[in-house]
Amino acid sequence: MEPIIATEDLKKVYRVGKVEVPALRGVTLSIEEGEFVAVVGPSGCGKSTLLHVLGGLTRPTSGKVLVDGNDLFALSDGERTRFRRHKIGFVFQRFNLLPTLTAADNIRLAQHIGNGCNPHRFEAVTTLLGITDRLGQRPNEMSGGELQRVAIARAVVCEPKILLADEPTGNLDSENSRIVLDMMRAVNREFRQTIMMITHNPEAAAVADRIIEMRDGRVISK
Ligand SMILES: Nc1ncnc2c1ncn2[C@@H]1O[C@H](COP(=O)(O)OP(=O)(O)OP(=O)(O)O)[C@@H](O)[C@H]1O
Ligand SMILES: [Mg+2]
Repeated sequence: MEPIIATEDLKKVYRVGKVEVPALRGVTLSIEEGEFVAVVGPSGCGKSTLLHVLGGLTRPTSGKVLVDGNDLFALSDGERTRFRRHKIGFVFQRFNLLPTLTAADNIRLAQHIGNGCNPHRFEAVTTLLGITDRLGQRPNEMSGGELQRVAIARAVVCEPKILLADEPTGNLDSENSRIVLDMMRAVNREFRQTIMMITHNPEAAAVADRIIEMRDGRVISK
């Protein structure tokens, strides 16, 4: 079976005025469908850049990204946006929920945007994430751990093949981190959700099936 994500010699150089900042210096890796992978490494080594490139949010300077067999950056911008909405869910450190909407409406909005999304999935996802009694609350009425569980529900409700998470426990205390990690594991197990999670936290990385270690724009072990 071909990997769900494969990259070939990915490079990314940011240009800031006349200064060039190399963020990825040749990354080749592959992730199998259903795998839960953690990406670790020091601040500034290129983890978020890699996640943004794999998710189609940032164009690499050179190299190739294949997602589910599709050459991501050979697609037009419109095709890539549609492809991303369909195949990839994102979770960030800062939750990024819409503040005026309830938890339920944040999740339903994702279902509405995700064309052809199965409406029956709402219940399975909110039950698995343990948020059924929080659905009427707005973001300012929820704890960090609850907000992240809603954000994960929103990210996976349309059954994307891939979940990309950038420090999902970065704003949480250890108890809430534990809960969110357990939920990530459950989503991986119950839905066979492929997950790539960036983390600074060794306890978080230990939850994954495999750890990819980066340093200075390169993968040093995988
Ligand atoms: N939009 C940007 N413009 C210019 N340089 C950037 C941009 N984003 C990141 N960089 C630079 O690219 C390098 C890699 O950044 P990146 O955010 O990928 O690191 P990271 O491993 O996620 O770090 P952290 O653990 O602190 O989040 C850094 O040197 C950073 O300063
Ligand atoms: Mg980062």
